[in-house]
Amino acid sequence: MELILISTIFFSSLIFCDAQYFPDLQKALEGEQYDPDCVFNYTHVNSKSIKKFPKCDVVYGILVINNATDLTVDQLLAGFSLMKHLKGGVRIENTTFPNISFFPITSEFVDFSVKTYGFFVRNNSELTNIGMLHKIWIYMNDNSESVFRVENNPKLDAKFMCDFGYLYMYTEIVEIQNVWTTGIKLANFENLHPDFCLTIEEMAFFLENEITFLNLQAKICADNRTKINDNSICNFESMGKLPENCNVMMGDLVVNPGDEAHFHKLESVRYVFGSIAVQNTSLENADMLSNIRYIVQLNEFDHPKKTNHSLPRQQCKLVP
Ligand SMILES: *[C@@H]1O[C@H](CO)[C@@H](O)[C@H](O)[C@H]1NC(C)=O
Ligand SMILES: *[C@@H]1O[C@H](CO)[C@@H](O)[C@H](O)[C@H]1NC(C)=O
Ligand SMILES: *[C@@H]1O[C@H](CO)[C@@H](O)[C@H](O)[C@H]1NC(C)=O
Ligand SMILES: *[C@@H]1O[C@H](CO)[C@@H](O)[C@H](O)[C@H]1NC(C)=O
Ligand SMILES: *[C@@H]1O[C@H](CO)[C@@H](O)[C@H](O)[C@H]1NC(C)=O
Ligand SMILES: *[C@@H]1O[C@H](CO)[C@@H](O)[C@H](O)[C@H]1NC(C)=O
Ligand SMILES: *[C@@H]1O[C@H](CO)[C@@H](O)[C@H](O)[C@H]1NC(C)=O
Ligand SMILES: *[C@@H]1O[C@H](CO)[C@@H](O)[C@H](O)[C@H]1NC(C)=O
Repeated sequence: MELILISTIFFSSLIFCDAQYFPDLQKALEGEQYDPDCVFNYTHVNSKSIKKFPKCDVVYGILVINNATDLTVDQLLAGFSLMKHLKGGVRIENTTFPNISFFPITSEFVDFSVKTYGFFVRNNSELTNIGMLHKIWIYMNDNSESVFRVENNPKLDAKFMCDFGYLYMYTEIVEIQNVWTTGIKLANFENLHPDFCLTIEEMAFFLENEITFLNLQAKICADNRTKINDNSICNFESMGKLPENCNVMMGDLVVNPGDEAHFHKLESVRYVFGSIAVQNTSLENADMLSNIRYIVQLNEFDHPKKTNHSLPRQQCKLVP
């Protein structure tokens, strides 16, 4: 049944959809259970096709907005106003729009799942404002096909992007590498949904790839695993109770007078998700902490503290 449905869509898509984007739409629909009425199979957005824009919460399609899009920002916004989720992709190219504020902003944030196709904002000669990107979720994938690119927009202030960041990510985003096509290694996690969390693996991925956080208000997902790959995970209660060979420590590490005998336990710790306080000990140097690569204080306006200060912080820069 599903197979028939899908092939029907594909066949008609051939008629409606710009042939160039047909394989991409096909790919975006693969494996999805969708209502055919919610597929925007025209791809190119213009005054004719916008009338057929699905009146659905979840819209499937590749949205192409270019110099042949004979609509204003406000008209686009009206056309897209019912959409809460887009599954497929977005390509905004060769336009003269000053901004891309044509996707509806709801209290829940519209989300774009562009795992198979990507999200492109390129070669828009008058574009100065992409603030809209602060207000949406963009889900990507950990495969090389998923791409997020903002480039070749001559009037777009790169500093704006660097200063404020624009990547709002949900937990499924692991591969941020593609984002680097813009040269930015800046992640911003703020004003997030209360349920938003990062897994230990995701956090470690960001840290190891030297992604700089603008705001890190995310929390670590509740996790009761005691081992991830070869790393043992532990919750800090006290130095005395700390197990040997703990690699990832959750909680605030407090070292008190009398804890000296347990210092060696810290030698295996690599990440601390919490803070470190060393209080009134006879500790002469911090050698025992030397293996700790990152101390991440969550829910604070703060950069993760990198313990090896000899590594330069990654600069925010855009490629031309
Ligand atoms: C394309 O979309 C239109 C409007 O939703 C629909 O009427 C038409 O049947 C679609 N073609 C398909 C399903 O391939
Ligand atoms: C859009 O730009 C392309 C080339 O970039 C050009 O061939 C085409 O005529 C333009 N279309 C409109 C409607 O301006
Ligand atoms: C934008 O213009 C370039 C160069 O003319 C063209 O290759 C590209 O397909 C255009 N993009 C869109 C979405 O029309
Ligand atoms: C950029 O957009 C303009 C105007 O639509 C077009 O003429 C030009 O070919 C595009 N350039 C590239 C590199 O896409
Ligand atoms: C975006 O640009 C349009 C003009 O094209 C303007 O009417 C609108 O107010 C702008 N929106 C934002 C959020 O700047
Ligand atoms: C860990 O959490 C999962 C899901 O939250 C639960 O099913 C499982 O029983 C928990 N395991 C332990 C050892 O608490
Ligand atoms: C550390 O020692 C100083 C001086 O002995 C004392 O004033 C202070 O309260 C102690 N701090 C803690 C956290 O024990
Ligand atoms: C910091 O890390 C670099 C590269 O991993 C290493 O060469 C250097 O010795 C480290 N410095 C300190 C003070 O640990």
